[in-house]
Amino acid sequence: MPVISFATSKGGAGKTTSAIVLGTELAQGTDVIMIDADPAHRLSRWSTLSPLPERLGVITSGGERSIQDEIARAQRQATFVIIDLEGSASRLTSFAIAESDLVIIPSGEEQQDADAAIETLAEIEMEGRARRRPIPTAILFARTSAAVKSKLEKHIHRELSRAGRVMQTELHRRTAFSSLHNAGGGLRQLDPADVNGIDKALVNAQSYVSEIIDILEESRHAQTA
Ligand SMILES: Nc1ncnc2c1ncn2[C@@H]1O[C@H](COP(=O)(O)OP(=O)(O)OP(=O)(O)O)[C@@H](O)[C@H]1O
Ligand SMILES: [Mg+2]
Repeated sequence: MPVISFATSKGGAGKTTSAIVLGTELAQGTDVIMIDADPAHRLSRWSTLSPLPERLGVITSGGERSIQDEIARAQRQATFVIIDLEGSASRLTSFAIAESDLVIIPSGEEQQDADAAIETLAEIEMEGRARRRPIPTAILFARTSAAVKSKLEKHIHRELSRAGRVMQTELHRRTAFSSLHNAGGGLRQLDPADVNGIDKALVNAQSYVSEIIDILEESRHAQTA
């Protein structure tokens, strides 16, 4: 069962939020386990705020000594395993990346984000070499504006497209996404009386999730070909 990790050395790039959107949406139709492998435990905190979708479980990793067992156990129990990682390189991060079928690298449209994404791609590539298995990656533009791109933003997109695979879908900067950290649960549990634009966020989330499923399919075919 596929393991999807969220990694980038840029703090606040959108790892936890993008992981929550993926996990809560996938759990509408299948069993999902999310592993909080960030010692700051923001995902675990989110999971206690309100009831989770029925088919979603969240576990807090015990750290580098237990992460491999936690992933293996989660893979036996769920259709998708999603891992939220910390920003800095660590043995915990590298063990989780080594077990991943896909690593998603969220990036904003600023140079610091792009630099961090490129550095993270290089680390994942080294990890893959050490394990003698290429580890599929996808860069996700997150926290972006839905407006027309500026020159700088276009430049960042070009730079990252040269460095690796960039997802066509962006997760735009939307209150509905950031509200998840206050309200808990997924987009579908948000109250439209409290949060604007839930519908648009859901449409955005759905195309994000289906692109990730397509990427997983593609890389599974590439491996068996
Ligand atoms: N698509 C989005 N729309 C609106 N706000 C977002 C979006 N993605 C992230 N944010 C906000 O940006 C901040 C950082 O996001 P998040 O915690 O997901 O990043 P992170 O990469 O997990 O950070 P850290 O490295 O600290 O773990 C949060 O306040 C979150 O609400
Ligand atoms: Mg985080």
